[in-house]
Amino acid sequence: MRAVIVGSGSEIPPTVVTNRMLSRVMDTSDEWIRERSGVETRYYVEPGTTTSDLGVAAARRALVAARVEPSAVDLVVFATMTPDHYFPGAGPLLQAKLGLGNVPCFDIRQQCVGFLYGLQLVDAHVRAGLARTVLLVGAEVHSGFMPYTAANWDYLYGRTDVPPTPAEHEWNSRFRHLTVLFGDAGAAVVMRAEEDGSRGVIDQVLGTDGAEYDKLYVPGTGFKHRPYTDPEQFARGDHIPVMDGRYVFKLATTRMVEVAQQVLERNRVTIDDVSLVLMHQANRRINEHCQKVLGIPDAKVIHNIQKYGNTTAATIPLLWDEAAREGRLRQGDLVLLVAFGAGMSWGATLVRA
Ligand code: ACO
Repeated sequence: MRAVIVGSGSEIPPTVVTNRMLSRVMDTSDEWIRERSGVETRYYVEPGTTTSDLGVAAARRALVAARVEPSAVDLVVFATMTPDHYFPGAGPLLQAKLGLGNVPCFDIRQQCVGFLYGLQLVDAHVRAGLARTVLLVGAEVHSGFMPYTAANWDYLYGRTDVPPTPAEHEWNSRFRHLTVLFGDAGAAVVMRAEEDGSRGVIDQVLGTDGAEYDKLYVPGTGFKHRPYTDPEQFARGDHIPVMDGRYVFKLATTRMVEVAQQVLERNRVTIDDVSLVLMHQANRRINEHCQKVLGIPDAKVIHNIQKYGNTTAATIPLLWDEAAREGRLRQGDLVLLVAFGAGMSWGATLVRA
């Protein structure tokens, strides 16, 4: 028994934001962002649209693609680091908005590797006979992390002529190495138990090193503080992630290569046997490095960081959905998924489409 991906869907917010638009509210440039990360545009929701909304829209499309009725879903796994509320997680909200039965809903927090950890959770449930038809969702509204005032947002979009004050400009620029990378999006897959065993999740190698957590984390708005959120934390900017970019870059390139090699070797397959490699979209240069070391031809790799930026838990299902819609995923294709992110966590998964 294996968990097979039988349909996918995605949801991109309507508003495109170019690098040039970001340079209106902070000290950055299209050239820097493009060269250092590969990001050209990203999409942000309007205030009021939440992670569960993006997940719901993506899940609806995935259910249609899979020709599965919502009533058949018997498990939900929702991966996000930007839930609508501190609690409950986004899974129960998605369940209610989609009108699913009172099925169990997991919320998982493995950031950029969330989708791969979700695949393991779904596959384990399916193999144990605990679930047959599962919605696995990855969605993020990162725009809530952005440090801009409401007036800065309006100026960024060209809706007013009032630029940030020098102090606001300096404040926004403090977070520029992080904020320019991220976008909002949702993506989902429907997974079904299939008995023939040839398709679905073949194998996974996942890892975590919690000793490195403070290389990429949110220092404030947590229960380490009493109260868990207060104006001083906001004044310090502790609600915005801290990232040691160079350190994370180095660790990502090392771990992604290692874990991809491990999963290939242990299944006695090589890149030649793989039809498509879908890597987490944190930085195009990270992926180009991994591609080169692993010897993956360009034709087997899809990037979408240039369009959407880093959409954390949504990147890999979004790539899967785009590949499916473009006819690049044929039944029986072997696909390698690789990701690295905050935790620090990493993983590689082999899936037969
Ligand atoms: N615009 C203009 N200049 C900038 C910007 C910006 N947006 N950001 C930083 N700079 C400047 C810096 O201040 C620095 O200036 P200095 O040399 O005068 O001090 C210079 O550019 C170089 O900065 P670096 O941080 O060394 O730039 P780098 O090439 O490392 O790129 C980046 C930074 C893009 C963040 C890169 O390190 C990276 O991608 N790291 C990994 C990110 C990642 O994989 N995260 C994990 C996934 S996310 C998750 O799990 C939630």
